Amino acid sequence: MSKPRLISGIQPSGRLHIGNYLGALKNFVDLQNSGKYECFFFVADYHSLTSNYDKDEKSKEINNVIKSYLIAGLDPKKSNIFIQSSILEHANLAWILSTLAPYGNLSRMTQFKEKSEKQKNNINVGLFYYPVLMASDVLLYDAKYVPVGEDQIQHLELTRNLARRFNKKFGDTLLEPKPLMTKATRIMSLNDPDSKMSKSIPNGCLFLDDSPEEINNKISKAVTDSDLKIKFDPKKKKAVSNLIIIYSEFSGRSIKEIEYDFKDKSYADFKENLTDLLVGELSVFRDDSIKKSRIKSTLKKGNQKAKKIAAKKLKEVKNKIGLIT
Ligand code: ADP
Ligand code: TRP
Repeated sequence: MSKPRLISGIQPSGRLHIGNYLGALKNFVDLQNSGKYECFFFVADYHSLTSNYDKDEKSKEINNVIKSYLIAGLDPKKSNIFIQSSILEHANLAWILSTLAPYGNLSRMTQFKEKSEKQKNNINVGLFYYPVLMASDVLLYDAKYVPVGEDQIQHLELTRNLARRFNKKFGDTLLEPKPLMTKATRIMSLNDPDSKMSKSIPNGCLFLDDSPEEINNKISKAVTDSDLKIKFDPKKKKAVSNLIIIYSEFSGRSIKEIEYDFKDKSYADFKENLTDLLVGELSVFRDDSIKKSRIKSTLKKGNQKAKKIAAKKLKEVKNKIGLIT
């Protein structure tokens, strides 16, 4: 029996940080290695054009996501890795889906409202249309599962809604996907434990390719709490709890074990240990040994497979709605 298909993507906007890694990328690798799914992972470059960007940086950002995929352990022999804009069908199906998408639904999207607030000088139509393109990314591939963080659930609901609308109007064609909520690790900003670590607040981010000096600097400056105990209490001791989670995720040690190991130690001791751990664990991301040829062959294979499936699906959709194919 064939395995259920799973798809997800990450936008190439800025450098990836440990929140992206622990909240998304590491899960992708675990899902791939579970052997239970046929996996598709792509770089959502078209989506990333909805935020302000520098054209001279974009191709580097796209390559960096692919590199991070490979370094983290995505394996082109097991997963299909491709670039969204290389598969023209994504934008095509999105247009068709947009004609079924209620304007009201899109204008109520939390991410649209938040991003419009953040980039007041650039509230482009793409920002509004974003969830429709995301629906297309998923529906083109008959993906049964979509591993995403909580912030994307509303978009996935729209995807399901669009599939239902299409099927009702034109007959069974699109598969309604389900979110795959794996263990969600939410990493908070190093200098503000009340907001999540995000590329939009670079000061609070630990980037995957930060140098040992940067790691040391950022961890030693990371905010802590007023009492001096290394204790996990996400309500009363948010800052230290965040650092304990980071420690636990990268060391594989449980929170209880970490609390025990550091019960008589100072914040300085804990931070020194955490720095050493991170410098070691992140060293692979600083290593620039992923060759251009490996990226090229990964994409060639991934794009080819994606293109074949997407072209077939778009043709089926066009037929169903009465267009000439
Ligand atoms: P950012 O907020 O840095 O721009 P994105 O919105 O591009 O990040 O998110 C890319 C992926 O990384 C998403 O799957 C998202 O759920 C995950 N992610 C982003 N920030 C965090 C975080 N601080 N903790 C856990 N996961 C995160
Ligand atoms: N919107 C997602 C994010 O910002 C990225 C994305 C684009 C995506 N298309 C997708 C994720 C399709 C899953 C499936 O994280």
